[in-house]
Amino acid sequence: SLPARVRIHEVGARDGLQNEKTAVPTGVKAEFVRRLAAAGLTTIEATSFVHPKWVPQLADAEELFPLVRDLPVRLPVLVPNERGLDRALALGAREVAVFASATESFAKANLNRTVDEALAMFEPTVTRAIEAGLKVRGYLSMCFGDPWEGAVPVEQVVRVTKALADMGCDELSLGDTIGVATPGHVQALLTALDEGGVPVSRIAVHFHDTYGQALSNTLAALRHGVTTVDASAGGLGGCPYAKSATGNLATEDLVWMLDGLGIETGVDLAALTATSVWMAEQLGRPSPSRTVRALSHK
Ligand code: HMG
Ligand code: MG
Repeated sequence: SLPARVRIHEVGARDGLQNEKTAVPTGVKAEFVRRLAAAGLTTIEATSFVHPKWVPQLADAEELFPLVRDLPVRLPVLVPNERGLDRALALGAREVAVFASATESFAKANLNRTVDEALAMFEPTVTRAIEAGLKVRGYLSMCFGDPWEGAVPVEQVVRVTKALADMGCDELSLGDTIGVATPGHVQALLTALDEGGVPVSRIAVHFHDTYGQALSNTLAALRHGVTTVDASAGGLGGCPYAKSATGNLATEDLVWMLDGLGIETGVDLAALTATSVWMAEQLGRPSPSRTVRALSHK
């Protein structure tokens, strides 16, 4: 069976823009977030409070966040450590996300830590965030395959997901960072998480579309009871520390499928498509989303 409603966790302004080679002006980013909210998205990841040398594209987080923080939507931000949390708290952020890795290679590349050292870095960050009354999401990268290590065993993913859940992350987002997952693998991982005691109500899925599998994988997750799906407007995205990663599942492609299935999202597809066409003009290249292309070529 399928859910009646899906909450879309929009990551275009963070996962999308973190991977752009050209610097996007802060005002354009703020306008992007405002338009996403106007199109009916209710959870919009705004930026990251990471080291500016590691992700220069988001080095303007201090300038951007105050421009969007009064919007009537959820605005989670990424924080890797207590330093990032301090920066987010100082600006009045109400939701944060930490981001772990299921593999050692990516933990090193993305966080300069082993998997367990990264978990040790998140622990006080998550504890303090919860004490401050924040909602905390835990991302887990490389849940299916890793560019250095190949296929990732499900037990390894279950271990780190449980560690994030036990720390107090209320939502766990399973990242297919390089887009290699296929629906059977998604089903196998979700089943292993059920058996490992992580309830599906706390799981979100985060698919990248490198191999064109993101929608099929999403459908497999919905059939398993997942109701929170990450997507990026226009299919923007990637990850600067995972070379083979392309854009996320495009929000428009997701909404087209969910609309067709009669699953509610609250998103106005025409307004969202217009936003992605406008953003593509700002970036100087067309959106890779099939739905954006189909709806904008009349
Ligand atoms: P490090 O070099 O090990 O940092 O980087 P450190 O802890 O040794 O600190 C070094 C200096 O950095 C110190 O300054 C700190 O204060 C400063 P100093 O005392 O030398 O003057 N520093 C900071 N400054 C500002 N903000 C901070 C911060 N932290 C330390 N938050 C670190 C470790 C975690 C900081 C670094 O590796 C980092 O910032 N990584 C972020 C990488 C990133 O953002 N990747 C993309 C997001 S993850 C993703 O895209 C995947 C996802 O989409 C899911 C999926 O698809 O799989 C979520
Ligand atoms: Mg991602």
